[in-house]
Amino acid sequence: MNSTPHLDRDLFSADEIRERVEAIAGEIARDFDGGDFLAIALLKGSFVFTADLIRALARHGLHPVVDFLALSSYGAETTSCGTVTLRHELSLPVTGQRVLLIDDILDTGLTLQTACQMLARQGAAEIRTCVLLDKPSRRVAPITADYTGFKIGDVFVVGYGLDYNNRYRHLPGLATLRFYGPPGGA
Ligand code: IMP
Ligand code: MG
Repeated sequence: MNSTPHLDRDLFSADEIRERVEAIAGEIARDFDGGDFLAIALLKGSFVFTADLIRALARHGLHPVVDFLALSSYGAETTSCGTVTLRHELSLPVTGQRVLLIDDILDTGLTLQTACQMLARQGAAEIRTCVLLDKPSRRVAPITADYTGFKIGDVFVVGYGLDYNNRYRHLPGLATLRFYGPPGGA
């Protein structure tokens, strides 16, 4: 159980994020070379990033079909519990499709690894992964993303869609969250 959370320090501003999203869209556009693909956003944390990324992709001439998948490995804590559960299925078939899988943050890697395995089992022709943030020092599953916005250390971040207990998602930039007080939040 964690104690009371407080916003600590700004990590990346809205402008810095916008610049990186634009650059990632350029990389994806080069690699996908005008071909059609399915963009799958992992809910809930990636919804803001995905909204900006697909519009940046459109500026590069790419208009993927968009679908959503929800997996969860978190309760009210800031560390993964290690078991990834399916919360919301895809609504479209992925068989034979090229897929761009989008997540907010690559932490232990268990979520992205599980999602990739599910898509592979469902017959996706090709899977590329894209994350806004990467915490390489926390990795448990042997996975790296094909496209990464920012690499960060072992800090807990919120904003731009990322939450703590479903709060802070509205922040335009990314900030670190700190926990004060005795364990249990007394
Ligand atoms: P993983 O399975 O450990 O890689 O966890 C990935 C998921 O954990 C992400 O999609 C996020 O929802 C959540 N997560 C991991 N680190 C953070 C963080 O610093 N802030 C908010 N959510 C996080
Ligand atoms: Mg998430």
